[in-house]
Amino acid sequence: MNEAEIVQAIEALRQQWGKRLLILGHHYQDSSVVALCDAVGDSLELSRIAAESEAERIVFCGVRFMAETADVLTRARDGSDNGRRVYQPAPEAGCPMADMADAPALERAWAAIRAADPDAHWVPVVYVNSSAEAKAFCGRHGGAACTSGNGRRVLRHFLDENAKILFAPDQHLCTNIFRELGYQPEAVAVWRRDQADGGLTPAVIRRARAIAWDGCCPIHAGYTLGDVAAARAGMPGATLLIHPEAPSPVAARADRTGSTKAIIEAIARAEQGTDFIVGTEQHLVARLAEKYSGLSIRPLRPIVCEDMGRTTPLQVLNVLQSWPEDCIVRVPDAFVADARVCVERMLAI
Ligand code: 13P
Ligand code: SF4
Repeated sequence: MNEAEIVQAIEALRQQWGKRLLILGHHYQDSSVVALCDAVGDSLELSRIAAESEAERIVFCGVRFMAETADVLTRARDGSDNGRRVYQPAPEAGCPMADMADAPALERAWAAIRAADPDAHWVPVVYVNSSAEAKAFCGRHGGAACTSGNGRRVLRHFLDENAKILFAPDQHLCTNIFRELGYQPEAVAVWRRDQADGGLTPAVIRRARAIAWDGCCPIHAGYTLGDVAAARAGMPGATLLIHPEAPSPVAARADRTGSTKAIIEAIARAEQGTDFIVGTEQHLVARLAEKYSGLSIRPLRPIVCEDMGRTTPLQVLNVLQSWPEDCIVRVPDAFVADARVCVERMLAI
């Protein structure tokens, strides 16, 4: 089958299913996949759409944690699925950062932190790029999820209640948000998974306003100050937009940090002739450069998330034709209720 035949076959099946089917995709998907989606968004938008959807089948073109979040939000409180199912056309597509926050390790760290600082009000916050089990840990202990789109709002909410935050898994998102909220770097201590008690003394834990897990996005964490200098030299006067998964010294050089949605909106609002340097995944940067040909858009440095790039139109067709068991994303019943609390608290903040 060639590309056009695949698209035609998907269209025919989509007509057959009507409103009972919803195809969702993240902005980092290849344009050939984006073109097939009913809705494309950042992690926050996709969670909201999944929460509001009544579709019987959601086909999620993205990585595992996104499809798991959709599953958690479409399941009933007792864990039953009411016949609704979430499918991931590329079931092997995970997020390496999500894998860096193992839930039993989070529980151990949580116990150690609270033992070291028993009088403080600690709250866990997990980046939505985390496993359902990590979200369940967070929901169980009074915390909420956040995304790069609402992280500032979620953290401010808890900080205003005088809480101290255990944030996982992305240390860079945590330090970027704290910097943007006006905190000094010392406010955030980093919990090192390979060290006893995270490598933190009780005194450091008591002094910190937040403890950031030492996870990161291996894609965005690779940006350097050298990349910023080279890109700025190649495009003087350009507006620099960077995703907040980049290391803090790099993100601090941006004219603006924001989620994929915020980056897209900043470009969509720009006047003709504006120059942009964009620090995020290349599928999105390339698509923006093509769409807004009246602007000059260059990558900070081209970086590709292989996991996001795994989904193909043929895999989407395969799901719509045969609904394979191995593409079903089903969070274990034991985690559904607490993970749902964690995500719903985020949506309510
Ligand atoms: P957004 O929520 O900004 O789309 O980010 C998701 C992601 O995985 C970024 O690496
Ligand atoms: Fe995970 Fe980074 Fe890929 Fe986003 S870009 S899915 S955070 S590995």
